[in-house]
Amino acid sequence: MYEGDIASVLITEEQIRQRTAELAEEIAARYPVGAPEGDLLLIGVLKGAVFFMTDFARALPIPSQMEFMAVSSYGSSTSSSGVVRILKDLDKDIAGRHVLIVEDIIDSGLTLSWLMRNLKTRNPASLEVVTLLRKPDAVKIDVDVRDVGFDIPNEFVVGYGLDYAERYRDLPYIGLLDPEVYGG
Ligand code: PRP
Ligand code: MN
Ligand code: MG
Repeated sequence: MYEGDIASVLITEEQIRQRTAELAEEIAARYPVGAPEGDLLLIGVLKGAVFFMTDFARALPIPSQMEFMAVSSYGSSTSSSGVVRILKDLDKDIAGRHVLIVEDIIDSGLTLSWLMRNLKTRNPASLEVVTLLRKPDAVKIDVDVRDVGFDIPNEFVVGYGLDYAERYRDLPYIGLLDPEVYGG
């Protein structure tokens, strides 16, 4: 698939599976089952988080429910501008719920810091984040992220939900995109 476009595999399917299982066990241990606040509510950020979200939910040893939001930052396709708009909002009220945002990657951190501020105003019982990947630049902005699957170098990665111009999301692993593809 995508012959020649992937320079190398950064994180294999098996590494993703193992780390997802670890994260799911650790995170589940923090939430009481049968709490009056209801099941843990996962909020996936479309579209990139879809693959991680579904695998993470199935790895969780506690019941969870799913909601999705779609947000988009204005600007170029390979870097975030920090201005975020809601393309699809939540269908449900999250007040009083234990909420866990599920992201595929934190790059500049701007999407997530905006999203956390936005969701906090809706008064959830708790608000946490799990991200599969984090890039070094994300550390510069003050986003309170407890659970990170992998810290990765500042390279253009695709697969397992991550796209370049909407392509490569369907790869089962995280790969480095050949710079020739994006004219680098
Ligand atoms: C990507 C990625 C994160 C965000 C991270 O989404 O899935 O949501 O960018 O970037 P940041 O930390 O610099 O804000 P994108 O906006 O490309 O939309 P997509 O998930 O539909 O690909
Ligand atoms: Mn995204
Ligand atoms: Mg994208």
